[in-house]
Formats: sequence, C-alpha cells, structure tokens
Amino acid sequence: MIDLRERVAIVTGAGRGIGRAYARRLAAYGARVVVNDAGVATDGAPTDEDPAADVVAEIVGAGGEAVAHRGDVGDPAVGDALVARALDSWGRLDTVINNAGFGRPRMVFNLSDDEWDDVIRVHLRGTFVVSRPACAYWRAQAKQHGTTYGRLINTATGLLVYGGAGQSNYVAAKAGIQAFTEALATEMAPYGVTANTIMPGANTRLAQIGWRMARGGNEAGEAAGFDPRDPVHVGEFGAYLASPEAGWISGQTFQVRGGTVEHIETWSVRDTAHAEGRGFTADDYLREIPRLFGAGAKRADPPPPGWKAK
Ligand SMILES: NC(=O)c1ccc[n+]([C@@H]2O[C@H](COP(=O)([O-])OP(=O)(O)OC[C@H]3O[C@@H](n4cnc5c(N)ncnc54)[C@H](O)[C@@H]3O)[C@@H](O)[C@H]2O)c1
Repeated sequence: MIDLRERVAIVTGAGRGIGRAYARRLAAYGARVVVNDAGVATDGAPTDEDPAADVVAEIVGAGGEAVAHRGDVGDPAVGDALVARALDSWGRLDTVINNAGFGRPRMVFNLSDDEWDDVIRVHLRGTFVVSRPACAYWRAQAKQHGTTYGRLINTATGLLVYGGAGQSNYVAAKAGIQAFTEALATEMAPYGVTANTIMPGANTRLAQIGWRMARGGNEAGEAAGFDPRDPVHVGEFGAYLASPEAGWISGQTFQVRGGTVEHIETWSVRDTAHAEGRGFTADDYLREIPRLFGAGAKRADPPPPGWKAK
C-alpha cells in the first residue's frame, strides 16, 4: 500500500489542473504538501487569482496538511523559498514535482522573442530553479546521514512523441526538461535520489489551447464514473513515483493519460554502421544511410487535418 505519511512534498503550479491533482493525491496518501502557484493565465499573464490557497483549503478540508506559496518558479528566489517553506513547516523535504507552466503557441515565423523566452523561462528555467536547492538539500542530507530520500518528478509533453508543430518554444523547453531530468538522475543516484519525467495527458484549461481530449460519457467496459480526461489519473502516478516502492525507478520517462501508462523510449542508438578502419565518404553514405534509416522514410508528420497555423 502506498503510504506517504512521513513525506513532505513541493508541487509547483498546483493551484489548477494536473498540479492540483498531484497535490491532492499526495495529501490523500498522507504527504504534507507545499502548494505553489503564481495564479497566472494560460499565456502566463498575471491575474488576481490565488488558486494555491484554494487547493490548500481543499486539502485541509479533507483532513490533510498543506501550505500555500504564491510565486513564479522562473524566479530563482522562489526555488529557495519553496525548499525553505517545506523545511520551516515540517523539517524535511522528500518530493518535488515541477509542473508549473503555460503556453504561447505560434508558428516559428511569427514567434516573438518574448514568446520564446517566457515559455523557456517558466518550464525549463523554472524546473532548474526549484530542482537546484532541492538537490542541494538532499545532497547535504546524504552527506550527514549516509543516504537520503528524494524524489524529483518533472513534466514534459507527449508532443515530443507526436510532434510539436505550432509549439516549437514549448517542445524545446520540454525536451530540455526531459534531458535535464536524465542528467539529474545520474548526478543524484549516489545520494539515493531518483529523477523521472512524466508526460501527462488530462483535460485542463491549458489543454484547451493545445489539444483537446474530446469525450462523451463512459464507454463500453469502463468503470462507472471513470473519466480518462480527469487529471486525477496523472496525480495517482505522481503519488506512486513519490513512494518508497518506486525508489528503483530513475532516469525514466512515462506518459500517463487516463487508464493508460506508457514507458517512453528516449535517447538510444537505433542502428550503427562501421566503415571498418577508415572513414565513410559521402558516396558511401548513398548506400549506408538508406540502409540504416530506411529509404524514403518520412522525417516528420504533417499537421493533423483541420489544423490552422497561428
Ligand atoms: N493538460 C495536458 O494534457 C498536458 C499535456 C502535456 C503537458 N502538460 C504540462 O502539465 C503541466 C500542468 O499543466 P495543466 O494542463 O495542469 O495546466 P493549468 O493551466 O491547468 O495549470 C497550470 C498551473 O500552473 C500555474 N503556473 C503557470 N506559470 C507559473 C509560474 N511561473 N509559477 C508558478 N505557477 C505557475 C498556473 O497558474 C496554473 O494554475 C504543465 O507543465 C504543462 O505543460 C499538460
């Protein structure tokens, strides 16, 4: 049975959507949660909303423990503040879920400097900014006690699998997060800390600007009330990865949507050709590359039917 009663977690962007589901499911399994959210719109524009406070109220109302933190994860001071909030509140930190983010979808020929920078900043820099102090804390704990407990869970996107036309800034950031996470899995392994990536799929307000999980009622063979679009299913996977039982899993990427989980193959060598004691010439490649890659293989999927450039 998953038991997170001794655990303390930070979840960024936890005021809505998938982050809220992570926070609520971690709390349901007993974890105490720092609920971070900047309260911004889907394009990152500031609002008066404070959804982190609402989620804390939900968790506390259900008998759990949580504290709210309003702040922008792109700001390095916020990473330090989040770790400090966990330690000041409960004296420990076991799990960080970097989930905060927004989108500014546009074709590259129309993409502004700000649209590029803001999306890279919130996702890639935001993930770094919170991971750094968490990893520093875990390393210090391991040096003091011989080992530690640390679970870092970062967020990518299935667009890395399916193609990111119109979202080049977003997929660039998400690919960076995925690679960053694999590097941290290696860096933090000696300290007993795991680092994994989730590609989530759920019907949230952000999903409305990218893609839509259209669905009617329950389909044949499905349990009553099961909604594959519900972020709760991603939340359950986050709770599993945060658990002691998942300590053997690190450097991995999983796509989770509804009742489906997929182990994603990331960076690996598919086929190799050797020139045997010399270098290939460009003429050699006329033969070798089609053999390795497949003559006429398509290089990228076209956009889906009905898709319109912005
Ligand atoms: N919904 C999906 O199907 C889907 C698919 C792939 C990836 N994702 C990723 O999942 C994560 C969560 O997305 P969601 O669909 O729940 O979106 P959402 O808009 O419902 O929730 C995101 C939350 O993050 C907060 N936020 C945004 N920028 C922030 C910042 N700088 N600092 C702190 N908080 C900030 C927002 O205020 C919001 O409450 C994102 O990283 C997103 O890219 C979602």
